Amino acid sequence: MDAGTAPSARMTAAPDRPVRRESLADLAATRRLAERVAAAARPSDVIALSGPLGVGKTEFARAFIRALARRHGKAPPDEVPSPTFTLVQTYDLGAVAVWHFDLYRLERPDDAAELGLDEALADGIALIEWPERLGGMLPRGRLDIALSYAGPGKPQAREAILTDRGDWRARLSDA
Ligand SMILES: Nc1ncnc2c1ncn2[C@@H]1O[C@H](COP(=O)(O)OP(=O)(O)O)[C@@H](O)[C@H]1O
Ligand SMILES: [Mg+2]
Repeated sequence: MDAGTAPSARMTAAPDRPVRRESLADLAATRRLAERVAAAARPSDVIALSGPLGVGKTEFARAFIRALARRHGKAPPDEVPSPTFTLVQTYDLGAVAVWHFDLYRLERPDDAAELGLDEALADGIALIEWPERLGGMLPRGRLDIALSYAGPGKPQAREAILTDRGDWRARLSDA
């Protein structure tokens, strides 16, 4: 095989790079994780929140948006509604805007353009619930946070797996 023209798997498939797995004992722990990620977040970041219904994706987004508002000296929004029907909700925090997407009801990945996904990626921070709905349009550079239920008998407990698909490892270690 000609090494010069062979497609390089290394270049096309970014390896999964787990940052860490965390046990979240209760809602307060989920909020603390969101606050740590918010402390490390920068414009143009994409944070993909996956996991089943009711696992805490929107609660994570709420705590994240409130923490970022405080960091930028803005009054935290009274309400951070779940964008279940609007699909996107934006928060202008002065120095940065947060775009909170809930793509559960997105019919086709292409429809995300109408929601302003490109604009969000230009200089906003995108928090995306149901990121799998974007298929191949999901931005490659991102932090994946996969939430799951910790198990029966522990209704408040969750597991979070953080996968670095950018430069989050270094940023989160000192967050
Ligand atoms: N550890 C936890 N983290 C997040 N939410 C929790 C936790 N324990 C209980 N909850 C509850 O689970 C629900 C999560 O709802 P929500 O964030 O809307 O889920 P999703 O957006 O994933 O569908 C909330 O009612 C919240 O109070
Ligand atoms: Mg939700």
